[in-house]
Amino acid sequence: MDKKILIIDDEQIIRFSLMEGLKDYNYNVEVAKDSKEALEKLISFRPDIILLDMKLKNEDGLSLAKEIKNIDDYVEIIIMTAYADIKTAIKAIKLGATDYLKKPLDIEEINLSLSKAMKNQAMKKKLMMYKQYNQNKDNTFLMKDPIMNDVVKKMNILAKNDSVTALITGETGCGKEVVANFIHNNSSRKDSLMLSINCASIPSNLLESELFGFEKNAFSGANKSKKGLLELAHKGTLFLDELGEIPLDIQAKLLRFLESKKFKRIGGLDSIEVDIRILAATNKNLEEAIKKNEFRSDLFYRLNVLNIKIPSLRDRKEDIIFLANHFLSLFSKKFKKNILGFDFEVENIFLNYNWPGNVRELKNMIERLVILNDKKIITKDLIPFEMINNNMNIAECEIDNRYKDLKNEISLEEEVKNLEIYYIKEALRLSNNNYSNASKMLSISRHALKRRMEKYNLQ
Ligand SMILES: Nc1ncnc2c1ncn2[C@@H]1O[C@H](COP(=O)(O)OP(=O)(O)OP(=O)(O)O)[C@@H](O)[C@H]1O
Ligand SMILES: [Mg+2]
Repeated sequence: MDKKILIIDDEQIIRFSLMEGLKDYNYNVEVAKDSKEALEKLISFRPDIILLDMKLKNEDGLSLAKEIKNIDDYVEIIIMTAYADIKTAIKAIKLGATDYLKKPLDIEEINLSLSKAMKNQAMKKKLMMYKQYNQNKDNTFLMKDPIMNDVVKKMNILAKNDSVTALITGETGCGKEVVANFIHNNSSRKDSLMLSINCASIPSNLLESELFGFEKNAFSGANKSKKGLLELAHKGTLFLDELGEIPLDIQAKLLRFLESKKFKRIGGLDSIEVDIRILAATNKNLEEAIKKNEFRSDLFYRLNVLNIKIPSLRDRKEDIIFLANHFLSLFSKKFKKNILGFDFEVENIFLNYNWPGNVRELKNMIERLVILNDKKIITKDLIPFEMINNNMNIAECEIDNRYKDLKNEISLEEEVKNLEIYYIKEALRLSNNNYSNASKMLSISRHALKRRMEKYNLQ
């Protein structure tokens, strides 16, 4: 689609000649002679770029520029001035104008300036998209289990200190990106972008240009220059996900940047300085990778100024039920269902399951259960067989191991006693020593549980 240009000038001859000149370049052009007409056209024509005369009859171009930007921040303004009035031009640029041109105007020069403004606009659009993408993600960080206190403490320290780098570690789905988002959104960088890059999903040659950008002709196919994420995230945060997958040569470049805050685009000669905070995440054991010479130790120490180790969901027993209930109300609302909660048996299965996919797995599971459920309470019959099976595996393993011992002589009484002790201890641990809950898990009465505990001296 042709770009829309609005020319605002009080001299008819300029309006006319510019309009004709620009139409030859396939622009869609309209004109306005004063601010009243200009503001009307801003709404009705929705220009992409405005060519604005600085000295309109009895009017100040600068205040019109300000008014235009207030109404439509997306539009690019190019100032035209008959006077070599640099001070006013600088003021206009500060107000958000992209460029200024001196009269008499040269159509080639105008065209060049328009191309520049269009590039600027494309970039702004891209940034807006990134921002929206981040905002659309569900980034709420929730916790209840005291084991998460250390994570919360460190997140708050990092929010307050907005240039400290950090390494966030933990199994897949345990919330590394949620933590990074919390830090960014609660820091003084929150009004700028947090850009993320997944280092594992991008081939290494592309990863380098995504991070550092490149100049025109830096390599075959680079027919124009491109800013990298380090530049685009200026004033904000760059989140390097799956850090452990960065190839060694890019690790060296990244280290250099972290030490100097400066870098060069691929094929570029000038050093570019940016102000960003880097947060990195990995579920790989980097210390092991260092031993195998797959990861640079100096980069590791540079990034690992603060380490946030997020515990796995199976070790955050209080979070399992708390988050399950949170996701239940989230998805109940989304799918317009009135579900009150989980059956006790279901909660036990959740508590005993080992959640290899952590919070992500729990969230997906609850979403599925909400979709499938048509009762007030979610009951065991909807739980996938593998999950219940997984609960039983511990018991089966124990018994299997003991079967092997049958080749030797065993005491049945002793074996049954050990098994009973094992299950009682496990139920007490999972219920945080709540006798009622533990007895329900074992399908015996509270009284029977107490009797057995006394018998086996389990206090
Ligand atoms: N503490 C939490 N509170 C609420 N939601 C959470 C929490 N932790 C994780 N989630 C949710 O779980 C899902 C996975 O989280 P996230 O993407 O942050 O995990 P990750 O550790 O980055 O995983 P991966 O290693 O696979 O990249 C997301 O949908 C996120 O919203
Ligand atoms: Mg992640």
